[in-house]
Amino acid sequence: MEKKWWHKCVVYQIYPRSFQDSNGDGIGDIPGIISRLDYIKTLGVDVIWLSPVYKSPMEDNGYDISDYQDIDPIFGTLHDMDTLITEANKRGIKIVMDLVVNHTSSEHPWFIESRKSKDNPYRDYYIWRKEPNGLRSVFGGSAWTYDEGTKEYYCHNFAKGQPDLNWENPRVREEIYQMMNWWLDRGIGGFRMDVIDYIGKDIDKEIITNGPKLHEYLQEMNRKTFGYRDVLTVGETWSATPEIAELYSDPSRNELSMIFQFEHMTIDWGKWGKWTPKPLDFVKLKKILSKWQTQINKGWNSLFWNNHDLPRIISRWGNDQEYRVECAKMFAIVLHLLKGTPYIYQGEEIGMTNIKLEKLEDYQDVEIHGCYKDFVLERKVLSNEDFMQGVYKMGRDNARTPMQWNKSPNAGFTTGKPWLTINPNYPVINVETALSDKNSVFYTYKKLIDLRKNSDYSDTIIYGDYELLLENDKNLFVYRRYDDNYNLLVIANFTEEHVPIKVKYNAEKLLISNYPDFTPQQHFLRPYETVVLRLKSK
Ligand code: GLC
Ligand code: CA
Repeated sequence: MEKKWWHKCVVYQIYPRSFQDSNGDGIGDIPGIISRLDYIKTLGVDVIWLSPVYKSPMEDNGYDISDYQDIDPIFGTLHDMDTLITEANKRGIKIVMDLVVNHTSSEHPWFIESRKSKDNPYRDYYIWRKEPNGLRSVFGGSAWTYDEGTKEYYCHNFAKGQPDLNWENPRVREEIYQMMNWWLDRGIGGFRMDVIDYIGKDIDKEIITNGPKLHEYLQEMNRKTFGYRDVLTVGETWSATPEIAELYSDPSRNELSMIFQFEHMTIDWGKWGKWTPKPLDFVKLKKILSKWQTQINKGWNSLFWNNHDLPRIISRWGNDQEYRVECAKMFAIVLHLLKGTPYIYQGEEIGMTNIKLEKLEDYQDVEIHGCYKDFVLERKVLSNEDFMQGVYKMGRDNARTPMQWNKSPNAGFTTGKPWLTINPNYPVINVETALSDKNSVFYTYKKLIDLRKNSDYSDTIIYGDYELLLENDKNLFVYRRYDDNYNLLVIANFTEEHVPIKVKYNAEKLLISNYPDFTPQQHFLRPYETVVLRLKSK
């Protein structure tokens, strides 16, 4: 496989609203991010994926864009954005922009024109039908909204304020490619592509993801924009299987660098999806992760536990109280020793946790409110109480609470009133405390990044083979990474019990662990104890 810089890099995701406020309006902004670049640099990452900062009415916190070529005033100016790119580049960090092109905001000039009349030149930029079909919106309710002006329905797979673009229209595609080139010319390092598996859809057949035109459009996009530049592109594709992932990421097909797959992120979804979670099937989790490790051969994987749409992993599948630190380090080690490009979501590196807000109104997320209306009020398939349990466990605002920088009021995030409640645990869990404690979660992440990028084991971690051991063990996640030079063994106890180490091994060296005093003579792993060992035999 031809080596690429993004095989070796580690990405840090910033959700700008919640990262750092610089002007006291309670909302994070670009100058705030610039002021924290040195911190990000200290962690050792090479890329920042920036969730959307474009002009937006903020119905979905910026995933509803009204101008792709301008910055929303709450985040700053285009000049601030250029400064961010320059300042990040100076520190060896590339900025990957979020590309949201399945839909725009309903306030985008294209949509304002489109809805004016059936013969408007922008009419076909969107998807209009005389009658709606049965499609449902991800955020609840029908995916069609009736528009009085022209007495037709427009399609929106997400909120009403996020009309789907008509990718079948070549003018739409050209406009998007021009916009992408405009950003690439400003010096960005690539794109994270929002719900990109939707763009080839066949709306009338109700085929939304993996539609007939998907790969054709991606190849065209590649050819007309980033194909001849050395950038990172990652598609958000909830619908991908390993076979499909290879279509996207096999370099000879000229589509994307890699995708985010979500098979491991939906295994605890129940009857009503994320709102009715089931307990984690740990053996299944290992099987799924292993499948993705071994079945992507021509392409490339991404690795993640968290992002702005997912609850915090230590609250979801671990213990965010008594064993918060051990647990956060366990998830980190298990993920970062896998093959693929690791992504860290802001606050993960200090072990931030889910939040439980008192009332539904305290939640800000459009998905929570849309689905409440749909599941509880209209279809009445879930009780208020059941839905709220789902929100506590799985709601997206869990990950969106502001970054906890220090012990000062509002966690150092803002001097004003934060847009979303700050987790009350900030006096204990914050960056300043983490940086001053050499045993903190932060330094485990730093060490993992260093092991991957700058150690003797880099090649083994990046390109080595993978083998799952003790496949059906209900407590331990055990795997090997190996090549001609090294044989690394990862053993992780996913439980709160003492668990006997059921593998025989001959260790030469301990590379990293989450307890300070592991010894190879030890026959048990303590709660969440995790070790990476270099074995004698190759
Ligand atoms: C993606 C984003 C999510 C957004 C949705 C619609 O899933 O990650 O935050 O709400 O697309 O744009
Ligand atoms: Ca601000």
